[in-house]
Amino acid sequence: MTILKTWIVKAENDRVEEKDMKKLGEIIAAGGLVAFPTETVYGLGASAFDENAASMIYAAKGRPSDNPLIVHISDYSELDTVVREIPKGAELLFSHFSPGPLTVIMKKADTLAKTVTAGLDTVAVRIPSNPVARALIKASGVPIAAPSANISGKPSPTTAKHVIADMDGKIDAVIDGADCDVGVESTIIDMTGDKPVMLRPGGITYSEIKKLLPDIEIDRHITEAVTVKDKPKCPGMKYKHYAPDADVTVVEGKLSEIREKIRQLIEDERKNQNRRIGVLAYDGGEYDADYIIYSGKDNRSYAHNLFRDLREFDENGVDIVFAEFVYDVDYGLAVKNRLYKSAGDKVIHL
Ligand code: TXA
Ligand code: MG
Repeated sequence: MTILKTWIVKAENDRVEEKDMKKLGEIIAAGGLVAFPTETVYGLGASAFDENAASMIYAAKGRPSDNPLIVHISDYSELDTVVREIPKGAELLFSHFSPGPLTVIMKKADTLAKTVTAGLDTVAVRIPSNPVARALIKASGVPIAAPSANISGKPSPTTAKHVIADMDGKIDAVIDGADCDVGVESTIIDMTGDKPVMLRPGGITYSEIKKLLPDIEIDRHITEAVTVKDKPKCPGMKYKHYAPDADVTVVEGKLSEIREKIRQLIEDERKNQNRRIGVLAYDGGEYDADYIIYSGKDNRSYAHNLFRDLREFDENGVDIVFAEFVYDVDYGLAVKNRLYKSAGDKVIHL
């Protein structure tokens, strides 16, 4: 792959200077790649109408070509440029949760580049709330196809620093904006079947959606991640993901029991090996570890910090990580999905 000089453009207070934003829009319109902040994670964007540009996204990330991209629009009025029809439920979802961390699967319009949807007849669409993301879409004049801006398999980037670490020299520009608010990706809802189905848990919780669409179902690949081995409807769910270099083990159960178990695991580890031990804990966990990251008091803050924390263990030379996890149906679902994958399904259930 040719090495590019990546242009780093500063966004102050969620705003990029007008002349720079114009140039960034031109880069996208001309078939280039620009990484940008969103409220969930940083995205790696290209024109959703440009076959070649979309395939460059797969190359820059090292992403398998059967894993489709999310198409980002700046306003609901642009939706009919990317889909064939808008189901009633989809309209309802967008009117409540957009702009925001929600993605809806619908039947795709023929105008979209085939590489964007990986040959599927459906497309995933999202209206981000981050002002920089929306300004970039407007400046480009086209819908922007964007996966998370990380190398495939690594934790998603929630700061510009993460993006630069993974993408410098591979893409045309990075917008260096604020750290991401939500910290995990958007919630994906499939509206192409008889009933709405949640394909990926994320920034909008199951309970919030259930209030609006009472017949919402949760895809089994989310709830039974370890046991279900058939092909998921959301292609990305089948890949190894979010993995730091450190070896992660999740311990799930009641907090007091988790802590006792992890203390014992650390003791055993110290006896047998000379590895640098990390712990990812909710506030208050006390351990004799080499590196502890406190990730907040509940799963909402755990989700907000998770990807950054996973990268931080690597930056600090940690070899093995024990992660506390207490399940709940809302942010817990989003944390569980990422944490289990970062551990390659190495989970101790108490
Ligand atoms: O928050 C987000 O959604 C971020 C930001 C950048 O917007 N984007 C993101 O993209 O998470 P990515 O590529 O990392 O994840 C997209 C997921 C993948 O698991 C993919 O398989 C799924 O969406 N997907 C895309 N199109 C689909 C479709 N037509 N049907 C089912 N799943 C689809
Ligand atoms: Mg991703």
